[in-house]
Amino acid sequence: MDDRVQMKQLAYPPDTVIPPQRYSGDATFAEEVAKIFRRAWMFVGFANDLQNDNDFITAEIAGTSVLVQNFGGELRAFHNVCTHRYAQIHLRPCGNGKPVCPYHGWIFNRDGVPVGIPGNREHFGFDEAARKRLALPRFEVGVRGRFVFVRLEPGGRGLDEQLGAYGPVLDHLSEMFTDRIDEDVLPWDANWKTALESALEVYHVDATHPETFKKFAKKIWICSYEGEHSRGTTHLSDTSARWWDGVIERLGLPRSEMLRNYDHFMIFPNLAIGVTHGALMSVQTYDPVGPDRSNLHFRLFLGETSKPKTKGGPTRKAVEANVCGFNRTVLDEDRRVAESAHRGLKQVQVPAALGSCEERIAAFHQAWFARMAAE
Ligand code: FES
Ligand SMILES: [Fe+2]
Repeated sequence: MDDRVQMKQLAYPPDTVIPPQRYSGDATFAEEVAKIFRRAWMFVGFANDLQNDNDFITAEIAGTSVLVQNFGGELRAFHNVCTHRYAQIHLRPCGNGKPVCPYHGWIFNRDGVPVGIPGNREHFGFDEAARKRLALPRFEVGVRGRFVFVRLEPGGRGLDEQLGAYGPVLDHLSEMFTDRIDEDVLPWDANWKTALESALEVYHVDATHPETFKKFAKKIWICSYEGEHSRGTTHLSDTSARWWDGVIERLGLPRSEMLRNYDHFMIFPNLAIGVTHGALMSVQTYDPVGPDRSNLHFRLFLGETSKPKTKGGPTRKAVEANVCGFNRTVLDEDRRVAESAHRGLKQVQVPAALGSCEERIAAFHQAWFARMAAE
């Protein structure tokens, strides 16, 4: 046997790779919800949307609807399900308004206690203690820069400890990228792991993105690790780098001093952040919806322009259309291969043959195994 082939196989022995049977299936999904998604700090949105009193955002963490709300300057998170008869209290992804259930109009306070119950005396007769027992379950909130996280189950490491050296990266990104130019939630018929893995290597770029990403970046992928998280960096093609230099100049966009290439961070379990030429940030979560489905929630940001007059102008509009269109096209190409791989993995038993170019996937699998081995 060829020595190199043997070495590569030894680099990621099959028992260190998530077997296909464990990508999907109700039992694995239930275990992931319990051991990963309920215990990890999960990114749910941006503090930009929570600046004013009564601003709120909602998010779904592996089947649990969560609201995060600004109560007089303090962010608190609650289960977004009414303790009367299960309606969702806030229905929109973000907005401003007190937590009032739209079904029968129960009003909840900053402790999640229903303080306004229409016809209480007549129909329920709840005293204060009874109302407190009907409080919405509360969850922990952690904020790093503008990135807001929620943890469903208390205990374990604090957010800063979990982020490690990537905490300061989130601070930096929060200062840099303030101007959201696109956001959407795209349903994928693929398990969240299969979906996320499409973002952890550039080996697929030539075959999957021949007209898009292949022309945008070079193929060198330098990887590094921070606990359960990882980073991959590649250089933009000369044409792309020139295009971005021109855009930065004409639109007066700031450029990061720290992130100069295409820098991609994965924060376990499902947050991915890509920064292009230090001028564009893409934030994605691969949200688990079920064993065979995920939602890709993406947001695109630019920095604050030093030439405000360009905003809404034709050049800025053309650049935004180009960047947003490119992003959506690439994601759709990724969706097609991820959905195909998801259908395929349900037909085999043998673990994937990971190469050295897929080392971030191997590291992701290691982190997954460690979480799943915990009691
Ligand atoms: S379900 Fe919320 S008030 Fe009735
Ligand atoms: Fe891709």
